[in-house]
Amino acid sequence: MCADNTPFLLLILAIGAGNLVQAAEEPRIIGGQFATPGQFPHQVSLQLNGRHHCGGSLISDTMIVTAAHCTRGQSASQMKAIVGTNDLSAGNGQTMAIAQLIIHPQYNPQSQDFDMSLIRLSSPVQLGGGVQTIQLADADANYAADTMATISGFGAINQNLQLPNRLKFAQVQLWSRDFCNAQNIPGLTDRMVCAGHPSGQVSSCQGDSGGPLTVDGKLFGVVSWGFGCGAKGRPAMYTYVGALRSWIKQNANV
Ligand code: ARG
Repeated sequence: MCADNTPFLLLILAIGAGNLVQAAEEPRIIGGQFATPGQFPHQVSLQLNGRHHCGGSLISDTMIVTAAHCTRGQSASQMKAIVGTNDLSAGNGQTMAIAQLIIHPQYNPQSQDFDMSLIRLSSPVQLGGGVQTIQLADADANYAADTMATISGFGAINQNLQLPNRLKFAQVQLWSRDFCNAQNIPGLTDRMVCAGHPSGQVSSCQGDSGGPLTVDGKLFGVVSWGFGCGAKGRPAMYTYVGALRSWIKQNANV
């Protein structure tokens, strides 16, 4: 299901017992905090057969942006989208049926290039209060290295991949193309941006995929893949919205 690759297993083996104890005492998704109600009104929980599967971002009252690897091989009838909650066990969100999954035609499941899908809801969500759309970054939008970005998701909160049901968020910093390129990270493409703290203490993780990375309140990246969760010296990879902006416009009319 997930785009994470083998270095994660190596990482687990390399972690000493002391670090695991620390992780257990501080069960946070690699540096995050729990979100308050309404703090991320664009956040979506994509459900597969009634369980949290991936994140997403609401870009209009009927369209969601997520990762291609979240919808690949799935059918719309098995998926639902929940909006307007920061606690999936509270049952206070809007649960929406899905009409159509639009996977990017150039998505490559091996390389995760073009890792983006659009989801069309069967009926519009009710906007207001805890449910709002997020603006998309402009085509080719760019930011200086170390610009702070915000990630959020219902994904795993520790290396044991425990799901919290509650929405978390964290601040990560964007990495420049000087490091975030195919020489340093084999397989990295122009449809990807890198972000994360060099210490590895801040990261997205399993279950966050498809969810938002925002800068200045605009959707700049989509959680895509990484080397485990929070590997030291390594960033996590996000689909670059600026590179796929015109495809979104054509297919979502947003
Ligand atoms: N691919 C994973 C998912 O489906 C997580 C992506 C982010 N992983 C990471 N190590 N930053 O949720």
